[in-house]
This record gives sequence, structure tokens and C-alpha cells, in this order.
Amino acid sequence: MSLKLQEVREKYISFFKKRGHSLIPSASLLPENDPTTLFTGSGMQPLIPYLLGETHPKGRRLVNSQKSFRAEDIDEVGDNRHTTFFEMLGNWSLGDYFKDEQLPWVFEFLTDEIKIDPKRLYVTVFAGDEKNSLPKDTESVDLWKDLFKKKGIEAEDVFIGTEEEGSKKGMQGGRIFYYSTAKNWWSRSGVPESMPSGEPGGPDSEIFYDFGTEHDSKYGEHCHPNCDCGRFMEIGNSVFMEYVKNENSGFDVLYQKNVDFGGGLERITAAANHDSDVFKIDALRVVIDKLEQSSDKKYEDPQYQKSFRIVADHMRAALFLIADGVSPSNTEQGYFSRRLIRRAIRHLDILGIGDGGICIEPIISSYSSHYDNLSRKSEEIRVIFKEEEEKFRKTLSSGLKEFDKISSANISGEHAFVLFSTYGFPIDMTLELADEKGIVVDIDGFNTAFKEHQEKSRIGAEKKFKGGLADTSEMSIKYHTATHLLGAALREVVGDSVMQKGSNITSERMRFDFSHNSKLTDEEKTEVEKIVNDKIREGLPVVCSEMPLDVAREKGAIGVFGDKYSDVVKVYSIGDEKTGIFSMELCGGPHVTNTNTLGNFKILKEEAVSQGVRRIKAVLE
Ligand code: ALA
Repeated sequence: MSLKLQEVREKYISFFKKRGHSLIPSASLLPENDPTTLFTGSGMQPLIPYLLGETHPKGRRLVNSQKSFRAEDIDEVGDNRHTTFFEMLGNWSLGDYFKDEQLPWVFEFLTDEIKIDPKRLYVTVFAGDEKNSLPKDTESVDLWKDLFKKKGIEAEDVFIGTEEEGSKKGMQGGRIFYYSTAKNWWSRSGVPESMPSGEPGGPDSEIFYDFGTEHDSKYGEHCHPNCDCGRFMEIGNSVFMEYVKNENSGFDVLYQKNVDFGGGLERITAAANHDSDVFKIDALRVVIDKLEQSSDKKYEDPQYQKSFRIVADHMRAALFLIADGVSPSNTEQGYFSRRLIRRAIRHLDILGIGDGGICIEPIISSYSSHYDNLSRKSEEIRVIFKEEEEKFRKTLSSGLKEFDKISSANISGEHAFVLFSTYGFPIDMTLELADEKGIVVDIDGFNTAFKEHQEKSRIGAEKKFKGGLADTSEMSIKYHTATHLLGAALREVVGDSVMQKGSNITSERMRFDFSHNSKLTDEEKTEVEKIVNDKIREGLPVVCSEMPLDVAREKGAIGVFGDKYSDVVKVYSIGDEKTGIFSMELCGGPHVTNTNTLGNFKILKEEAVSQGVRRIKAVLE
């Protein structure tokens, strides 16, 4: 009997709860006030301040399943293991337990709780880094040896170093493998050299599952755990986060030693079921079943398998993104929802399916017990998806015809641009089509055509592409500054108790949620609008400064997401000593440099979102 995704998630959470961990909910896919990244791509991002020493309200032992989206993997989707959206199971020690407790727990969970055969598990450890005076992780090696021994397995440790050396050296009869920093060091910004000062990181120990398939020499002479041939799949990573980069490019020991374990839920489930195809796990398989029922194609047919996988992955990712407020658009984040949906539609077309909406129900039912925003917002999700599908299907077939016409040879930048501007083909879809035909696209030419066009028709472009890419991000920046003005104006009109509860910006409008118990009166709305417009017309400078958190608080800066900041924070002020400071907020930016570029601010709607939370929808004209 195969394990279901939900069963594995529940078993994992209850296993760690029994060991003193508090369950924390998944954070949004949209990082709150973290300008370093567009999406939440691992469980660690939302927890950074606590890894750096802030006190977490739920204690020092946490467990979670964090929804994650890795945009960089879009092109990889189609094989049996890559997905853009995934859930990362986490267990966290914030200065509490360390390796000697964590490694035995995770091994026990995998082998006893979900019954993965220990003989199929292989592990890697940190080989040390002399340049940065970071020692080799022999402690983990000793722990792993003991753990395997208890299962009757003599685990030998062998040295690999880099991936390249791995394919030369092969397995060498080992079960525990030392790799260097590129593989067994973890920080948000990668290897020690690329970490900025203040960034936490540490050595890690990864667990691999052996599917026992033949090595494919296309991937190197010999197989080893980090080889990409498909025999091994990484299912978990325990990061021993005990260092922080210092200002002299060296490392200091963090005064609290943390553990950040991250394990891909689908991958762990695939290993437990001993089936290397993650798309066969129930939560994705139900979508594929639905697609099979609605077409005359079979998932097992090699001609169509990639399309089945792309539709299942992209639809699931798009629904989760929309549920977190990322509707398809041409702005940075919205553009990913758009790309996912449009690429899914093209592959639905290949499968002969005219209505992508059929995927929505199976996805929502598989996930709604853990992610209730999916069912709460199911109607909104359906409408948004349908709109985007209708819009794209109008131009898809004529766009494909146009593509056929121009693709007898390599595709010029101009042509790729026409496919984008007239037929709505995201550039990566053109790249994919070209790749299938074995021709190339002049991507630099596309970028130049794109820029030129924008420069020529700055104003026209705004209507034609609903903003165009660069224009819309400029618009988003304006809206971002407008949210600060709006927040300050609301505090003037309804009182200092108004706190921002969230915001959502597209190139076309802004949404701003705030705490307040009653509907705004017409007079209050007019007054708020007037104040914002006065501040725009006064041409106030917008100034960014960095300062320690406590200094920012003393100065009266408003911290919207107050408990998630690291020690030194960015503060944006609107207005200066000369003009008087109208607003001062902790914020990652970016913002315009002067309010006089914002245009006219207009409130379209004011409504309730939930008990005590109101929402303003507004535009800049
Ligand atoms: N943060 C670690 C990872 O993403 C667990 O692999």
C-alpha cells in the first residue's frame, strides 16, 4: 500500500510534536518584507530572525511543512522528480538540541515511522574548508556510523570532495561521503565566499535514497550520491547552523547553535513508496487521472508524459500562488503565475484538453485540509484562472501559427518580441517551442527589442501591455510608496491604532489591509484621499537609512511586521527635516525617490476582509 502525501505530512508532524516541537503554520509563498527574494523557496527564509537569536513565540523546538516555490526550476519540470512547488518538512532547533539528537530522530522517522529500508539510505557530510577555517564534520560521521550499526549495517566513510571528483572516484564501498562546501554547506546565499556579512550558515548532512537503478554514464564515469543520473534522490538535509559571516570575511560562531532540517515532502513520500516518479504520489496523480479521463492520452505514453507532468506541476503551483495573492500579471511575481498558467495551457492543448479548470478541484481537495486558504478562496481562484485561460486561448492558436511561419530558421529578437506583444507568449514559451524544433532564439535581440519598444512608447506601452515589464515594475514601486502614504494618512484620520495587516500590489492597483473595527465614512475616505494627494503634490523626498532596530523604534518608525527583523533594519522616511517627516516605516523597499512622481491617488473601494480588518483598493491615475 502506497503512503499518501498527507499521511507522511501528518506522521512527520506528530513524530516531532511528541518530541517537544510546536507546530507552526506555513508562511505565505510571498515573503513578507524580504526584498532578497521573490518567493519563499525553503522553510528557512521566514525563520531567519529566530535563527539569528530573536525569541520565537512558540519556543525553541518547531516543526512545520512550509510551502515553497522555486521559480528557477521551471525549465526542469518534465522529468520524474522536479517540481516548481513543493512542501518542505522542517524541524527546527533554535539554540536547543543539536546533531546528536537531531540525526537519530530523523533516521528513526525515516526507517521506523515510515519504514524506509535503511540499506537504501546513504548520507553525506561536510569535508571542511581550510581557507575559511571551518572544520570537517567528524561528529556527524560518528553519529551516522552508530545509527547504521543499530540496523546491522557497517557504514564506511569515504572522501569525495567535489561533484567532479565524485564521478571519478565513485562509491568506493562507502555509505557516508565527505563533500566540500559546494555540496555540504548551507546558507541562503550559497557557499561561504558568497555570503554577505551577518548571514547565518553552516555545514549540513544530506540523506539520499537509492532507487537502485543502473548508472547512466552520460552523467559521469561513476555514480555517487550527488550524481544526477537518477539512482540517488536527496530526501533530507540537516543544516547545523552554527556560524555567521563576520565583517572581515571570516566566520564567527553564532551564540546559539541551530538546526534547520528540510526534507522534500514529495520526495520522502516517493522514497517510502519506492517509486522514483513523484508524479505518482496521490496529490499529483489525482490531477493526472483527471487529465487522462478528459483526453484520449495515457500518462505512460512517452510522447505525452512530459505534458502531463508540466500541467500537474504548473497548475498546482499557480493555484497556490493565486491563493497567496499572486494573480497573473506582468509584474515580477505575477509574471510567474502567468508563465505557469500559459505554459500549462499550451500543454493542455497538446493533450487535447480545452478546459484547464478541470485540474482545480482535485488539487484543492488534496491540499485543503492543511492549507485552508485554498478552499476558502476556491471561487476567486477559479475566476482568476478562467480569465487568464480565456485571455490566452484567444491568441494561442494564431500565435502557434505565427510561430510555425517564422520558425523555418532561428528566431530573431524582433519575431520573439512579436510573439510576446501580439500573442502573449512569455519568452520562455517561445524558447521551449524553439527547443522542440531544434532552433535557437536571439534572446539578446528580444531584450533589446523589448527595451527599445518601451523607450519609444512609454505611454502607449502602458495601455498595450498593461504596463509592460519595466513599466509595471516602476508602477509597482510607485504603489509601494503609496501604501506608506496611505498608512500614515489613515493613522491621521482614524487614529494611531491603525496597523497594516498586509498589502498586495499589481501594476494596476494596490490593496491595503489594516486593522479597524468599522467601515470608513465617506468623509473619512475623502479626507484620507486628500491627505495622500497633498503629500504627493508637496513633492516630499523619500529617504532610506539603515539603523539598529531599537534606534528605529526610538525614532518612532512603524514596524509592520515587527517581530521578523534582524538587528539592523532599513527605514524609509517620507519627508525630511525641512518638510517635516510624514511617514517612517521599517521596510525593505524599493521606493520612488520623490512623491511627486505618483500622480493622483484614488480610493476605489473600502470593505471588510475579516473581523476587525478592512481593505482599501486604490489606484494611482
Ligand atoms: N534549508 C535547508 C534546505 O533548504 C534545509 O535544504
